[in-house]
Amino acid sequence: VKTVTVELGPRGYPIHIGAETRSQLPPLLDRLGGVRKVAVIADARVADLHLDTLEPCIPNLTAVLHFEPGEASKSLATVASFLDGLAEARLERSDLVLTFGGGVAGDMGGFAAACWLRGIRYVQVPTTIEAGVDASVGGKTGVNHAAGKNLIGAFHQPSGVVIDIDFLETLDQRDFIAGLAESVKHAAIRDGAFFDWHEQHVKAILGRKPDSVAELLARNCAIKAAVVAADEREAGLRAILNYGHTIGHAIERLTDYQLRHGEAVALGIVAENAIAVGRGLMSAADAARVRELFTALGLPVMLAEPLDPEAVIDRCRLDKKNRGGEINCVVVRQWGATERLDDVTAEEIRTALSALSAN
Ligand SMILES: NC(=O)c1ccc[n+]([C@@H]2O[C@H](COP(=O)([O-])OP(=O)(O)OC[C@H]3O[C@@H](n4cnc5c(N)ncnc54)[C@H](O)[C@@H]3O)[C@@H](O)[C@H]2O)c1
Ligand SMILES: [Zn+2]
Repeated sequence: VKTVTVELGPRGYPIHIGAETRSQLPPLLDRLGGVRKVAVIADARVADLHLDTLEPCIPNLTAVLHFEPGEASKSLATVASFLDGLAEARLERSDLVLTFGGGVAGDMGGFAAACWLRGIRYVQVPTTIEAGVDASVGGKTGVNHAAGKNLIGAFHQPSGVVIDIDFLETLDQRDFIAGLAESVKHAAIRDGAFFDWHEQHVKAILGRKPDSVAELLARNCAIKAAVVAADEREAGLRAILNYGHTIGHAIERLTDYQLRHGEAVALGIVAENAIAVGRGLMSAADAARVRELFTALGLPVMLAEPLDPEAVIDRCRLDKKNRGGEINCVVVRQWGATERLDDVTAEEIRTALSALSAN
């Protein structure tokens, strides 16, 4: 078992990573203290596959609340149904929500925990690569609004994260691969050696070798934990985690969430790299390395169907990271060195998009 700690003083928490780490849950709940009831908020598919295995590790299990898998469920309406469930189970201030599933389960379950009684504790048990390398760490919780992704939410740190790689075994290869985009993101923005590691371990990663998967998860959690510890509420540094996400979120929305989040992020990174190359901030060689790595990992670097550039520009303008109506994005100058642009032009977005359709 590898353990990474998110150093946030009284809000700090451990992330346990490895095979059978579900056995860490009873001692974790014990240490938290005062937990008389646990409500599980679970992706229905994950619950079908794995709840039997998880249940013995949750001594005080009181309620299991399911939702239909998929991004379309990530809405206020679904959270309202969870709140009804928590009310029915009579969860009190010292009780606990346990989220079980991918990023959608974690974001919604964490948000329900943030809202119930103005905030009760929760523990994340992520079951996707996306959630294990990114979504389960850092305390951003929330749901989508018709006007855009993740527009409704709260900062609410979990009290612990338990990543049991046994649960990841049933993940579809497409979902497994999609999550790798965030791993490449973390490497590019913080850790050149980790970027190289991806290039050297493509086969082991795609073959899901347990050691490689565990190492990938642990290195990602360490990177994200350090960024979050330095800037919990995104006053500055944490914004680098949005690399690829300005255009990525626009693509995700405009393709009606048919792409996996990670796939849209890969496309967003390729497009935003084109902006960086256009400004002479990133070398064309580094941008090519990112494309080649994505391709080797099976991530998309081209749009299947071209998108209307004006619609993408409109979406980018709506992005919640913007100030004063300008388009923002994070670019990588070289591995580990980022820069925040707050004056991206419509023309740059058009050119960046052509990088996703030209060959
Ligand atoms: N809070 C954050 O900081 C943060 C960071 C990154 C992403 N996110 C959010 O995370 C979401 C994407 O997460 P995701 O990619 O995990 O999507 P997801 O939760 O929808 O899971 C993807 C699919 O995998 C299935 N699944 C999950 N675990 C499985 C398993 N072990 N075996 C078989 N099937 C399994 C699910 O049923 C679902 O169909 C997005 O909503 C994104 O906005 C949040
Ligand atoms: Zn993301």
